[in-house]
Amino acid sequence: MMQVSRGLEDVIIKTTSLTFIDGEKGILRYRGYDINDLMNASYEEVIYLMLYGDLPSRGELEEVKSIINESYDVPESVINVIFSLGRSCDPIGMMETAFGALASVYNPAWDKERDKETALKIIAKASTVTCNVMRAKEGLKPKVPEPSESYAKSFLRSSLDKEPDELEVKAMDNSLVLYTDHEVPASTTAGLVTASTLSDMYSCVTAALAALKGPLHGGAAEGAFNQFVDIGSPEKVEEWFSRKMEEKKRIMGFGHRVYKTYDPRAKIFKRLAESLSSRKPEAKTYFEIASKLDEVGEKHLSEKKLFPNTDFYSGILFYSMGFPVYMFTPIFALSRTLGWTSHFIEYVEEQHRLIRPRAAYVGAEKREFVPLEKRS
Ligand code: CMC
Repeated sequence: MMQVSRGLEDVIIKTTSLTFIDGEKGILRYRGYDINDLMNASYEEVIYLMLYGDLPSRGELEEVKSIINESYDVPESVINVIFSLGRSCDPIGMMETAFGALASVYNPAWDKERDKETALKIIAKASTVTCNVMRAKEGLKPKVPEPSESYAKSFLRSSLDKEPDELEVKAMDNSLVLYTDHEVPASTTAGLVTASTLSDMYSCVTAALAALKGPLHGGAAEGAFNQFVDIGSPEKVEEWFSRKMEEKKRIMGFGHRVYKTYDPRAKIFKRLAESLSSRKPEAKTYFEIASKLDEVGEKHLSEKKLFPNTDFYSGILFYSMGFPVYMFTPIFALSRTLGWTSHFIEYVEEQHRLIRPRAAYVGAEKREFVPLEKRS
């Protein structure tokens, strides 16, 4: 009998030089750099770091920025696809549709000389797709992000139709770095399975998006935020929590397959959310509710090694910037496009083999076929 690893727990599907996680100690590093230190780097620096292996020099950074700035455009047909979907459509579904369309238009073959540049183009186009998903859902006109000092600023401007202030740009930049990569969660694995067939990089992103959509993965930030809305005030947290425990419900934004301690990203998101939410009374209340739920949850769930994860506070931050709740997962996807493409390239260029696992058959033994007219 073959050994089944439910949920592929502890199955190693590739080696990586991209992301290191120590789930017991709560450590996260990209290419050896601690996530806390990377809060001093821009997202563009992290793009270079992930794709090329080192932090960039000024010249290298300018080169990456200029490729991104020249690649925001997408074919009109892709914009039309996004805007032809109804305003009530699911935003990640809309992103999948847009990336499926991009895959049909570009369909790039794997090529060591070009893969990193393809990834940079995908990262730029992901910003255009994400902001236009929001614009379509809000009933606004299409817009292509305009180059500015930073990728984060261009995204904020084109999504929210306003000039973001310095604090908002810095918080967005940090959020993009925080969500950049997390080794091989479900979305990256789904994309890797696709990359292993040598399907094109846009299709791999489409597959990753489909896996990210679920509430146990990227959908959790929305789920966590909706809990704060549902609770209503910090005084109601304990009673709400007890009820959820009695009903055997999960606390969204809590627990992680790898972290058995406080997620280091959640600590940073907490600081960012605290600072930006203080500007909006409603957001401030949600932050207070979240902090209380964090405290109560930790008291009762830490013996099961369940702590807040990256999605616990991030929604409050995005809400404070002016994003609707449905945009939380798309922003996660926007940032993770870098991690996804970095893993696809690492796998295809360095360790490619078709991913084709087995299933252990536990069904009926050989049976006699009975024609339809003879079945009772
Ligand atoms: N609230 C309450 N109990 C929980 C939770 C939670 N959030 N998560 C796990 N448990 C309990 C679960 O009921 C089980 O208890 P018991 O052993 O008594 O049956 C035990 O912890 C182990 O659960 P599991 O489902 O086997 O653990 P897993 O490693 O498969 O699950 C997880 C990981 C993230 C799916 C899960 O913790 C969860 O559902 N969390 C809520 C959703 C969430 O926040 N997801 C975001 C994850 S981080 C960002 C991302 O990947 O996108």
